[in-house]
Amino acid sequence: MSLAETVQFLRSYLDDPSTVGAVAPSSRRLAKALVQPFAARTGASRVLELGAGTGRVTRCIASLMGPDDHLDVCEIKEDLADALETNVLSEAGCRRARVDGRIRLLRCPAQDIHDSQGYDYIISGLPFTAFDPVLLDAVMSSVRRNLRPGGVFSYFEYVGLRKLNRTLSLGSGRQRIRSVSGVLDGHISRHQFRRETVLFNLPPAYARHWRFA
Ligand SMILES: C[S@@+](CC[C@H](N)C(=O)[O-])C[C@H]1O[C@@H](n2cnc3c(N)ncnc32)[C@H](O)[C@@H]1O
Repeated sequence: MSLAETVQFLRSYLDDPSTVGAVAPSSRRLAKALVQPFAARTGASRVLELGAGTGRVTRCIASLMGPDDHLDVCEIKEDLADALETNVLSEAGCRRARVDGRIRLLRCPAQDIHDSQGYDYIISGLPFTAFDPVLLDAVMSSVRRNLRPGGVFSYFEYVGLRKLNRTLSLGSGRQRIRSVSGVLDGHISRHQFRRETVLFNLPPAYARHWRFA
C-alpha cells in the first residue's frame, strides 16, 4: 500500500468519518477473502463493487477479470472517485477494459443503483456499522434488487466492532447500533454460507458471504 494511498484514505476519513467508516484501506488478505466467490466462478460474470475507496479491492477484482467479465465500481465520495479514476482505473490492468466499457465507474450512492442486467457478485466495502437503520435498509434493498438469482453478496465487518459499539455508546447511539446489528444478524442467520476471519488487517475483520435464494 503506497503512502499516498494511505494519506488520501485517512484525509477522506477525517473529512467524513461516518461515510468512510475506516481509517485505513483493506489489506490484500481481506481483499482476497472478499473476492473468493468471484475467483471461483465458472462462467462470464457481472460484478458490482460498492464503496471502492482508494481501490484496494477493485485492483484485486480487476486482476481476476477475463475478457467476458464486467465490473461496475461504485463510490459516493468525489475525491475518492477522482483518485480511482486517475490511479487504479488508469493502470495497465484496467485501462483496456475501461475503454471497452467492461469496467465502469458509478459516481453515485449505492442505494440509487438500478441495473437492468443485474450482477452475479456484489462485493461491498460499505461501513454498515456506521450507517443509520434507514440507510442500511435502502442499501440492502439495492443489493437484493441488483443481485441476480443465486448471486453472491460479500462484505466485511471488523471483528467485535458492533459489540464494542453497543457497550460504549449511549442513548440514541446505542439504539442505532442495536437496530443495525439486529438487521445484520437476521441476514447472517438466514443467508450467510461462508465466513472467513482475516487477522492480517487493521483491525482484524470477518469477510462474510451471503446468498439470498
Ligand atoms: C470502509 S471504506 C472501504 C474502502 C475500500 N473498499 C477498502 O476496502 O479499502 C468505505 C467506502 O464506502 C464509501 N461509501 C460510503 N457510503 C456509501 C454509499 N452510500 N454509496 C457508495 N459508497 C459509499 C466511502 O466513501 C468509502 O470509500
